Amino acid sequence: TILILDFGSQYSHLITRRCREHKVYAELMPCTTKLKDVHFKPKGIILSGSPYSVYDKDSPHVDPEVFSFGVPILGICYGLQEMAWNLQGKVAKCEHREYGYAQIQISKVGDSGSSVDALFDGLGEEMQVWMSHGDQLSELPPNFHVIGRTSSAPYAAIAHDSKPFYGIQFHPEVTHSPRGKEVIGKFILNICGCQQNWTMEEFIGKEITRIREICGPKGRVIGAVSGGVDSTVAAKLMHEAIGDRKVVLGTKCRLILTPISQTYRFHAIMVDNGVLRMNEAQQVFDMLNKDLGVNLTVVDASDLFLSRLDGVEDPEKKRKIIGNTFINVFEEEAAKIEAEAEEEEKKGAEAKGRVEWLLQGTLYPDVIESISFKGPSATIKTHHNVGGLLKDMKLKLIEPLRELFKDEVRALGRLLSIPAPLVQRHPFPGPGLAIRILGPVTRDQVKILQQADSIYIEEIRKAGLYDQISQAFAVLLPVKAVGVMGDARTYEQVIALRAVQSEDFMTADWYAFPPAVLKRISSRITNEVSGINRVTYDISSKPPATVEWL
Ligand code: XMP
Repeated sequence: TILILDFGSQYSHLITRRCREHKVYAELMPCTTKLKDVHFKPKGIILSGSPYSVYDKDSPHVDPEVFSFGVPILGICYGLQEMAWNLQGKVAKCEHREYGYAQIQISKVGDSGSSVDALFDGLGEEMQVWMSHGDQLSELPPNFHVIGRTSSAPYAAIAHDSKPFYGIQFHPEVTHSPRGKEVIGKFILNICGCQQNWTMEEFIGKEITRIREICGPKGRVIGAVSGGVDSTVAAKLMHEAIGDRKVVLGTKCRLILTPISQTYRFHAIMVDNGVLRMNEAQQVFDMLNKDLGVNLTVVDASDLFLSRLDGVEDPEKKRKIIGNTFINVFEEEAAKIEAEAEEEEKKGAEAKGRVEWLLQGTLYPDVIESISFKGPSATIKTHHNVGGLLKDMKLKLIEPLRELFKDEVRALGRLLSIPAPLVQRHPFPGPGLAIRILGPVTRDQVKILQQADSIYIEEIRKAGLYDQISQAFAVLLPVKAVGVMGDARTYEQVIALRAVQSEDFMTADWYAFPPAVLKRISSRITNEVSGINRVTYDISSKPPATVEWL
């Protein structure tokens, strides 16, 4: 395992990713972490970049123990400066902040000056790298030497004369440093000697064992399922661990897991809030129960949700109502399961235990956000989740995906035999169609939007474009426009179509559809959806727009 100490750089999580791409497990922790509190023994430590300067009064610093811990260290950007600052080098402001591409010349080192350092071994004499810094090393710390320089940074890469300590000014973790991943590989594989044994199969096996251990032979888990990738994968994993398993792992997975005797200790609950996509609840029910064998109950609470949403236009109010109502319904269902458990215990029947755990599909980016040494980053948005349940219900949280990135969750889903169309599904917001109906939410408005949305997605799939688009959906506008149908004048509502491409949804570009596809979608929506006579396409990027309209 590699320990990455985070000083708050926007790229820190990418370092973790690159290590895992080399099949080496890496964990990101706040830079202020004391080594004695780290729950594993790292084979190497990477110090990340940071928006700070080492000489700022409030700048973050590592536990000095890091430098006597006896494992290799790689400092990246601020990490290099932090290393120098701790080891008596000098750091100064650059005359001009350096941001962008640079060419690094790899220095010949060693006694005869004929080889390159192990960090750059086999990577040639020159590399394109990405720089993003305002400070740089102005004086080498004692016992260090230069292993790479650029035209503006004489100490762009340094190494200790005898210890495995390295510092690089550039960012190897970003794709703009094309050979950066190899540099990270040289460090973690050759210098730290890590084994490449972090695979998804390994992960599944360990996680299932962990879940069984922490839940014990009794103790039920409940979890909310939305039909999205994360909650489905989390539910399926839970089912494999402590559910009544009819379906065992996919053929690609070589693990042999012992079945367990208790049944239905995991209860997945899907709340139909009345603002789901067309036939969504039924489809999710069929897939989880019938195809995946997961014990899922669908609760139709659409009347309650729609009555509470009646007349509400403000998007934040809509979100709040949906979030709170969700909690109410979920709690009620959990209480029913708990009552059932109590009843069983009284009868002395083979008890399946009390509800002790709440499953959450938390992903690594959410974890990273919450471990940040400065608290949550302002740029990351946390949306509705079921965290609010915890206070009253006193449930313990179980988060089997907390170490994974989204694409790793997808890979896990595939290994767990979750059908590809679900694994590749576009995200769908918790408040559902309520934030895509711009005016008040009524059953009629929901129906119109469901129909338009369903045609839109169907045509995107037919055109083979679904996987190229990160998220596509229809929005129902609260305006009426004039149209003509046959000989008659119409005065009906407008649908806006949205499709974006995005890496992480923090920024997004609108998707350039082939015109023929848009034409077909528009024609089908205006012909088949009663109440709509006009379709528009949203050509706004994020920023300045957001992905959703509300
Ligand atoms: P925005 O509109 O913020 O959307 O650019 C970025 C991503 O977040 C999703 N989104 C939400 N997801 N609850 C959710 O679960 C919400 O309230 C919510 N609002 C936006 C949006 O669909 C997109 O994927």
